[in-house]
Amino acid sequence: MTHNLMSKFPRIKDLEKVASKKIPPFIHAYLAAGTGSGNTMARNRRALDAITFTPELMHGHFTPNLETKFLGKSYALPFGVAPIGLSSMIWPLSEHYLSEMATRLKIPYALSTVAGASIEDIGEKCKGYGWFQLYAPHNRDITFSLLDRAENADMGVLVVTGDVPAPSRREDMRKAGAPIGSTNASRVTPKMLLQILQHPKWALAALELRGKLQFKNMERYAPKNSTHAVSNFIAGQLHGSLSWEYLAEIRKHWKGRLVLKGVLRPSDALRAIDTGVDGIIVSNHGGRQFDANPASISVLPSIRQAVGSNFPIIFDSGIRSGLDILKALAMGADFALVGRPFLYGIAAIGSRGGDHVAAILEDEISNALVQMGAKNIAELRQRLNH
Ligand SMILES: Cc1cc2nc3c(=O)[nH]c(=O)nc-3n(C[C@H](O)[C@H](O)[C@H](O)COP(=O)(O)O)c2cc1C
Repeated sequence: MTHNLMSKFPRIKDLEKVASKKIPPFIHAYLAAGTGSGNTMARNRRALDAITFTPELMHGHFTPNLETKFLGKSYALPFGVAPIGLSSMIWPLSEHYLSEMATRLKIPYALSTVAGASIEDIGEKCKGYGWFQLYAPHNRDITFSLLDRAENADMGVLVVTGDVPAPSRREDMRKAGAPIGSTNASRVTPKMLLQILQHPKWALAALELRGKLQFKNMERYAPKNSTHAVSNFIAGQLHGSLSWEYLAEIRKHWKGRLVLKGVLRPSDALRAIDTGVDGIIVSNHGGRQFDANPASISVLPSIRQAVGSNFPIIFDSGIRSGLDILKALAMGADFALVGRPFLYGIAAIGSRGGDHVAAILEDEISNALVQMGAKNIAELRQRLNH
């Protein structure tokens, strides 16, 4: 089975192609597109592709040890699953499939505030490998309730996302028929319905959703009998709420590890350290928020230099191979998160699609290390061409 999958889908891009046919276009645009003209997304790719390593000869064959100790825990691989809001709209039950996969493989799974599945359900599946991603609600009572729930569910790391001061314009989603900006964002329009009917596998799986978006973390806080959709309530709570003072309040309340996501400037990294975070995620949100961002990988070295060699840095945005993960590690990251590829895997293959994505990434990492003759991160960094 695994062998067959590796022959059929040896790279992430092979999964991406099939996934695009299996999901209705308005959903696919939500998953795959960037913002604006897609320049930041393209820049992420160009910058990663431009990085090269020069191998050193004749180190022979060896089996690299990929175990990574990070933020007080040992992970089997140097990457995890990035938080993806509404994963279960992209493919029903995705949060369940991906958290089960992550726990099996001993890698982290980050659950979004706006996931379809609940902190409690996913925390139980993660058995200590779960991280919780917070979009901080304006209402502190809701925030502290979410944090308490995450702690009770044994979510080991809190990821606070700082790079969404406002929703992005999502032009491709609008054009594909998603009801952005509508007063009832969970309404199914005739255009959406037609697309759904043309994608029967997705439609069958989506029967689970009973035609409506679910936000199991947030919906309990929405006013009962409100004339507004739950999604409007959530949008009102989450957009533009975070400030450095608010981050300090969150830091005070959350006793576990806390990382700030979306850092692109050395000065913000230093301010985050002053505010008491345990790590940062260098990320431009996969090119989804602002179309003039630098490629995340191009700012990573200066951030590493600013924070010193021991401060934990996670990298994401644009990773599509194990080699990309090695590039991030060589440029200064300790760990990587991978977003869209895991959903491509599920859409293309089904419930075990995430396992295959992880298998591709692991195989590519191991193979590339042997090709370079690099047995550890220090040797990997020596092979990097500056
Ligand atoms: C469909 C989608 C939804 C996302 N939702 C969230 C979210 O709820 N919270 C968050 O912090 N980041 C979110 N992100 C950003 C990812 O966590 C991550 O930064 C990004 O996907 C990395 O880029 P990649 O997809 O190229 O790997 C989302 C990304 C995608 C593609």
